[in-house]
Amino acid sequence: MSKDEDFKISHVKLGVEGLDKQHKKILKDISNILTSSSEEDVLFLKKIQELKKIMFKHYETEEKFMKDNSYTEHDAHKSEHNKLKKLIEELETETANGNISLCRRYELLEILLKGLLLQIHRYDKQMIDFLYHKYEDKFFS
Ligand SMILES: [Fe+2]
Repeated sequence: MSKDEDFKISHVKLGVEGLDKQHKKILKDISNILTSSSEEDVLFLKKIQELKKIMFKHYETEEKFMKDNSYTEHDAHKSEHNKLKKLIEELETETANGNISLCRRYELLEILLKGLLLQIHRYDKQMIDFLYHKYEDKFFS
């Protein structure tokens, strides 16, 4: 992983250990796939399917977290998750069909990485801020 990517990853900590760990793992995996994206289709597909699994699991965790805490922006946040779910499914399908160029692999992985960083910086941070405020009284009274 390059220093740039390390920098990005180290600056997206939300302060919620479980979520931070999941984010770090997903970002590292995308970064690793990006550096080895010229691999043959079967191997590449396997990595994409593994990534999809952990991303879907992560979104499940966050959506449960939002529901359990009656987060008011749950629907908007979930629809952001759905955008990237669709994107990784697109990448999976195109790879499985064997008609994906190296350029297209890069393109989709870059969009995925940027989309994920945006989600963490914007939507996840918003969610955590909401919860801190919601429970502020309990922590500081
Ligand atoms: Fe997240």
